[in-house]
Amino acid sequence: MSESTPKQRIGVLTSGGDAPGMNAAIRAITLAADHYGLEVIAFSHGYEGLLEKTYTLLKPSDVQHILQYSGTIIKSARSPRFKEIESAQLAARNLAELDVSALIVIGGDGSFRGAHHLSQHWDGQIIGVPGTIDNDVYGTDATIGYSTAVAIAMDALDKIRDTADAMDRVFIVEVMGRNAGFIGLKSAMAAGAERMILPELQRDKPLTIDVIVKHIKRVEDVRGPGSYVMVLSEHQWPGGAVALSEQLEAEYRMPCRPCLLGHIQRGGPPTATDRVLASELGVYAVELVLAGANGVMTATRAGQLTTVPFIDTWSKKNLLPENLLRIQHEIFNPVKKSRQRHG
Ligand code: ADP
Ligand code: F6P
Repeated sequence: MSESTPKQRIGVLTSGGDAPGMNAAIRAITLAADHYGLEVIAFSHGYEGLLEKTYTLLKPSDVQHILQYSGTIIKSARSPRFKEIESAQLAARNLAELDVSALIVIGGDGSFRGAHHLSQHWDGQIIGVPGTIDNDVYGTDATIGYSTAVAIAMDALDKIRDTADAMDRVFIVEVMGRNAGFIGLKSAMAAGAERMILPELQRDKPLTIDVIVKHIKRVEDVRGPGSYVMVLSEHQWPGGAVALSEQLEAEYRMPCRPCLLGHIQRGGPPTATDRVLASELGVYAVELVLAGANGVMTATRAGQLTTVPFIDTWSKKNLLPENLLRIQHEIFNPVKKSRQRHG
């Protein structure tokens, strides 16, 4: 390439709920682009940046020492107006004006729907990088941010156990996950929680308060007085952990306390797993651009790099690992012999 040849320009944005490791992905994309002689233009606040033309050029010096921080240096956002056809058309015009030939979208399945929507009006390449704590994206072993969220929830559950055990209390710890129970299941197992209330399990047969009370009493009968820690996924009980805890105290006289982890699950230092996953997928995204790929999300499956068509990321379902559910429900916290779940 001669000195005067302008560099190919690739865009990057982070969209939806921020996830620990997004910064590591931004760093990886910037370093890989520099390595291959590409220029990176980062749009701020997700798809809003495409609409508002708010962007900055990223050089390797801009991404030094960012991978150890959660959040995203280029900001993330939800952009409801991006769903309109006119928005995709405006974004396409702006990308053309800025001479962007490829766009890397770091986000969850909603963000990939947005990418698909844009692709109906823009002929540049679009590559996705899965970044969400929820792990609810089909086709990848894990999304960036999931490992950190689980580690944070596990750490909180361990702390709760100390005080719960000291006072023989029931604790209900509410975790994130939007409509997916991955954080709930994995943190519950990692911390030895006695019960999980997860969206996937609630759909078939929602738990009743009587079933919960029976289980608490049964655990007490078997193990003697002590603590009982329940992991509750958000939106799975009317009024959440606070209401459920109040109900158990008022109606059943159980010593019960709620604990809401909320957005703490999205902050602090990302785990090594998330940093490395984000680094690998970020570099891969740039290499896919160079290889001419389009309309796919980067992923790992059984530890190998692979791609997933955007449409599959939201139309197919990432299922909870059956074996972990079986172990939790049949071996670690059995209810009744005849019924293996919710009983
Ligand atoms: P996530 O990417 O974490 O799943 P959201 O579901 O909030 O997060 O989606 C992030 C953004 O992606 C939305 O705010 C919107 O800008 C865009 N988006 C989501 N769904 C669509 C859609 N059907 N059409 C166009 N854009 C969408
Ligand atoms: O999608 C990531 C996530 O953290 C979900 O687990 C949660 O339901 C949601 O975002 C919270 O969204 P917000 O940050 O807009 O409150």
